[in-house]
Amino acid sequence: MGKAFTFFLSTLCLLMASSVMTQTNITIDQLALLYLKSQIISNPFHFLDESWSPATSVCHWVGVTCGSRHQRVNSLNFSNMALSGRIPREFGNLSFLVSLDLRSNNFHGNLPQEMARLRRLKFLRLSVNNFSGKVPSWFGFLHQLQFLNLGNNSFTGPIPLSLSNASRLETLDISYNSLQGNILEEIGNLYNLNRLSIQYNQLTGSIPFTIFNISMIEVIAFTGNNLSGNLLNSLCNGLPILKRLFLSTNKLHGNIPEGIDNLHNMNWLSIQYNQLIGSIPFTIFNISMIEVISFTGNSLSGNLPKDEVGNLSSLLFLDLSGNNLVGSIPTSIGNLRDLQRFNLSSNKFTGFIENHICKLQHLGDIYLGQNQLSRSLSNCLGNITSLREIHLGSNKLSSNLPPTLGNLQYLVVLDLSSNNMVGSLPQEIGNLKAVTKMDLSMNQFSNEIPREIGGLQTLAYLSLRHNKLQGAIPDSMSNMVSLEFVDLSHNNISGIIPMSLEKLQYLKYFNVSDNQLYCEIPSGGPFNNLSRQFFIYNKELCGSSRFSVPPCPTSSKHRSNRKKLLVLFLLLAIAVVFVPLTFVLLWIRYNRGKSAPQQADSFSTVARERISYYELLRATNALSESNLICSGSFGSVYKGVLRSGTVIAVKVFNLQLDAVFKSFDTECEVLRSLRHRNLVKIITSCSNLDFKVLVLDYMPNGSLEKYLYSHNYFLDIKQRVSIMIDVACGLEYLHHGCSLPVIHCDVKPSNVLLDEDMVAHLSDFGISKLLGYIAPESILFLYMNGLTLEYGLDGIVSTKCDVYSYGILLLEMFTRRKPNEFEGDLSLKKWVSYSLPEAVMDVVDANLLTTTGNCLQKELYVVASIMIAALDCCAEFPARRNNMKDVVAMLQKIKIQLLAS
Ligand SMILES: *[C@@H]1O[C@H](CO)[C@@H](O)[C@H](O)[C@H]1NC(C)=O
Ligand SMILES: *[C@@H]1O[C@H](CO)[C@@H](O)[C@H](O)[C@H]1NC(C)=O
Ligand SMILES: *[C@@H]1O[C@H](CO)[C@@H](O)[C@H](O)[C@H]1NC(C)=O
Ligand SMILES: *[C@@H]1O[C@H](CO)[C@@H](O)[C@H](O)[C@H]1NC(C)=O
Ligand SMILES: *[C@@H]1O[C@H](CO)[C@@H](O)[C@H](O)[C@H]1NC(C)=O
Ligand SMILES: *[C@@H]1O[C@H](CO)[C@@H](O)[C@H](O)[C@H]1NC(C)=O
Ligand SMILES: *[C@@H]1O[C@H](CO)[C@@H](O)[C@H](O)[C@H]1NC(C)=O
Ligand SMILES: *[C@@H]1O[C@H](CO)[C@@H](O)[C@H](O)[C@H]1NC(C)=O
Repeated sequence: MGKAFTFFLSTLCLLMASSVMTQTNITIDQLALLYLKSQIISNPFHFLDESWSPATSVCHWVGVTCGSRHQRVNSLNFSNMALSGRIPREFGNLSFLVSLDLRSNNFHGNLPQEMARLRRLKFLRLSVNNFSGKVPSWFGFLHQLQFLNLGNNSFTGPIPLSLSNASRLETLDISYNSLQGNILEEIGNLYNLNRLSIQYNQLTGSIPFTIFNISMIEVIAFTGNNLSGNLLNSLCNGLPILKRLFLSTNKLHGNIPEGIDNLHNMNWLSIQYNQLIGSIPFTIFNISMIEVISFTGNSLSGNLPKDEVGNLSSLLFLDLSGNNLVGSIPTSIGNLRDLQRFNLSSNKFTGFIENHICKLQHLGDIYLGQNQLSRSLSNCLGNITSLREIHLGSNKLSSNLPPTLGNLQYLVVLDLSSNNMVGSLPQEIGNLKAVTKMDLSMNQFSNEIPREIGGLQTLAYLSLRHNKLQGAIPDSMSNMVSLEFVDLSHNNISGIIPMSLEKLQYLKYFNVSDNQLYCEIPSGGPFNNLSRQFFIYNKELCGSSRFSVPPCPTSSKHRSNRKKLLVLFLLLAIAVVFVPLTFVLLWIRYNRGKSAPQQADSFSTVARERISYYELLRATNALSESNLICSGSFGSVYKGVLRSGTVIAVKVFNLQLDAVFKSFDTECEVLRSLRHRNLVKIITSCSNLDFKVLVLDYMPNGSLEKYLYSHNYFLDIKQRVSIMIDVACGLEYLHHGCSLPVIHCDVKPSNVLLDEDMVAHLSDFGISKLLGYIAPESILFLYMNGLTLEYGLDGIVSTKCDVYSYGILLLEMFTRRKPNEFEGDLSLKKWVSYSLPEAVMDVVDANLLTTTGNCLQKELYVVASIMIAALDCCAEFPARRNNMKDVVAMLQKIKIQLLAS
């Protein structure tokens, strides 16, 4: 309030001094309000600034209403204006005031005695401010007062006796203050009282029995005091229209009176956290209006009645938790069709959860934890689709986790901890899209953590502690962006900790202790701040010294530990080996050193890259399913990312074949020496007694098979010719690039991989040799094409075998027909040969021919020449077949024709 206001005030005073001192008109009210304004030290929203101008009639000021008869201020409403200040003594001059509402501001200090002069006041709401001092005794003078709310202030001292003179009071609310002393017997004089709330003070003594003859009362709220004594039966006699009784959090003792059903209008009964004993009177189940019953936290005992419980057809909340109740859960619960919260936790209930509970189609929360419930978890819980919280921890449930729970799309909390539940975690848990807390700890769950868990993007708390889970930590967990707390300790989880978990920015607790984890502990992101205790008792974790684990073997910083690492390596039987790939090579001759000198040169120029077993596991997330590219009879191929960022493919061979793996490393070494633009590069190999892998260049565009046969892709004629030239070049190199031919033996679309520029690379060359046998798939393929394996003069498969397969591939490429589509005597080769050259149009992939007229003729001509070349490759007698050099030359010629058109 600035100078302007002071000036204005003094002017006004002068004005008034000149008039009669005892005036009782609106000017008095204006002055009182200006005094009020002068006391306001904070008015952040400027509610009073502009509007409260002396130029306007006070009756038009914001928050001010005048009576139509006297033109005096009769109502003030400044609720929720964030005003801060005191009420001035002059306020008592507003003698026409009927209603004053200052709710939710920051008025403070004592209420001035002068307010006792507001004799017309009927409505006084001062709640949610910071008024202090004793509750004024002058309220007793306000004989018109009907509504008095002093809640949420800082009043102290006793409830004044005089208050009982305000006998018109209908609402009295002094909750959330610091009142002390007893509730006076005289309160019974407030016989118009409808709502009495003195919750959350520090009142002591017993509830005066006089209260029970306030026949108008509907709400009694004494929660949160220190009231003691019994609940008297008189409670039940005198209060016919009582609807809500809140007596929670006091020290009331004794039984719940039998006569409680006389309160037949009761709809909310809350006596939780007292010291009530005895059984719950069955009469209570006659109060048909009741919607909420809460007796949590007493010492009630005995059974629940079997049938009567079902009578409470209006019941919404039933909370009897934290007592000593026994027996089974009554099946009549199923009749409580509107029930939303059902809480019997922390009692001694036995038996099992019957399917009747599934009739409760509005149930939101079910709390049955800390009982002795046994057997199965009802399958049908999954069709109470309204469920938001399930708390069944600390019972003796021994079933599986029903997959149907995955239907609960609104479920927020699932707590089944400390039971004896068994079986796998169903993948359907990944459907619980709303869940924020899942506690399945202390059970017997086994098998792997389902990958689908990664779908739980709102999950913040996950505990799977103390189970029998195995397998790897799914990489998909890195999608669980809300995770803060994860406890996987005390399981049999193996593999690595996925580096991708470093993405989980809210993660604060990640306990994986007491498992079988190995390799590197991630150190980025949230792992920066995690306790080393989270990682203890594992198989072989390594990483930052912060975690008190040995450094990881590949870390160049720790070369000095080479010896230690060597031992470690031996222990783990992990060898870092170099590898090559492929085909049928004349190994013996090669090993005798008969290879040509230029080949020896090419060997020595090959850069030898070392990749540790750890690094491989890390790069592929412990060969996790999400990294799987494909699998076949030989094993599986995984995608991986090396620390350097290089994307790799890791081919892991089936271990069942180990008898034929004897020469794996030697042969890999040779294969690895083969380097060509159109061969998939073998980066290295890695093998030990139970683990044989090839590390390959990753081909982002996948296999030719996909491009050829999936409707989502299309290769035009030029692309197809280019790809076939690439394949031919790769084969040519294998056959003729070194002094000794390498036979691929499995030329087919799925073994032709495409890099980001759509350049084709042959893969799996020499695998047949590596495995010491020809994969059944390839034999089948050859057979389909009317060819059995051909052996050359040396008794080994000849390169002509590859030429034949290449010819078939060429036919596939331009007809888009799979060789195995043909039956009986007809093969792809025969089908095409019957149509050439005139009817090429009948066999060519129709998608290829988009043009008409001359161009079409030209395209058909090109396709026909390709097919003739293909058939030449597929000649019955190997000697008649072209060699790859000729094939490359022919196709290049065709390509030139094509580009010219
Ligand atoms: C209020 O009373 C004073 C003195 O009695 C008089 O001067 C003034 O005009 C009155 N105002 C109204 C609005 O009646
Ligand atoms: C005061 O105003 C608030 C908000 O406009 C309103 O909710 C409240 O009922 C009013 N108080 C009275 C007593 O009319
Ligand atoms: C208003 O109240 C104050 C304090 O109670 C008193 O001193 C003053 O005389 C009153 N003013 C008028 C105009 O009635
Ligand atoms: C309320 O007033 C008391 C003093 O009466 C003061 O100690 C307290 O900080 C105030 N509370 C708020 C929220 O302003
Ligand atoms: C309350 O009423 C009683 C009796 O009617 C009277 O003696 C007492 O003074 C009154 N107290 C107040 C504060 O009004
Ligand atoms: C009164 O205070 C209590 C406790 O601080 C709080 O929970 C409640 O919301 C407050 N009531 C109002 C109306 O602000
Ligand atoms: C209230 O109850 C008491 C005792 O039960 C009785 O003496 C008194 O007359 C009753 N008062 C009213 C107003 O009913
Ligand atoms: C509820 O679940 C049970 C068991 O899963 C099933 O048999 C029943 O059909 C379901 N009922 C409804 C209404 O969906």
